[in-house]
Amino acid sequence: MTESRTFPSNVVIVDHPLVQHKLSILRDVATGAKEFRELIKELAMLEAYEATRSFQLAETTVTTPITQTTTKVLAGKKVAVVPILRAGLGMVEGILELIPAAKVGHVGLYRDPETLKPVAYYHKLPEDIAERDVLIVDPMLATGGSAVAAVEFLREKGARQINLLVILAAPEGIDEVVRNCEDVKIYTCAVDSHLNDHGYIVPGLGDAGDRLFGTK
Ligand code: PRP
Ligand code: URA
Repeated sequence: MTESRTFPSNVVIVDHPLVQHKLSILRDVATGAKEFRELIKELAMLEAYEATRSFQLAETTVTTPITQTTTKVLAGKKVAVVPILRAGLGMVEGILELIPAAKVGHVGLYRDPETLKPVAYYHKLPEDIAERDVLIVDPMLATGGSAVAAVEFLREKGARQINLLVILAAPEGIDEVVRNCEDVKIYTCAVDSHLNDHGYIVPGLGDAGDRLFGTK
């Protein structure tokens, strides 16, 4: 099911057993909207844990109940979480629980069902986006059109350090992002087999937005 080919080093497949277990339940057509939302939140947290591994630390001094000691804290990293609407919204809360000081921007894109091209309908970013490490979040990377449009938009607004966190990717989407955004690091829980004629990931998990929000 998962692609066995190797990907460039800027593609990280988060293959932790907890992630793979939760992803299997997420894929199941019998999983309802409530559990689907919980799983997307948990998977987003686990991915963010991996995506923040390179954050810099600074030394500080703490007094424990026993003694004073030198220890480490995050070195003032400024982060923006940017969900691609709608389905990306499901990944925001979990990441904010880990990084409460992060600001949130929104990029509204929907995929035209005929052309599969992204159509932009909304955006609102933190004013200081150029100073922040950006985590674009969207559960699905299919053709890659939406992700590339989001990266290009963020770059126009000055963002430099951009990571893309998805739950599931198609090889076509990975190739598209790598081709157009070579400095963007991609995190995914799995890379599936291919896209079907309607641009859906196979085996995939169906329409992420509809499953999150119960719209179908
Ligand atoms: C889905 C998904 C991605 C996009 C991926 O959103 O959440 O944003 O499709 O497809 P792509 O890689 O081929 O661009 P959709 O357009 O269905 O909008 P929605 O979240 O509002 O349902
Ligand atoms: N968008 C989805 O929600 N699911 C897919 O499989 C592809 C695009």
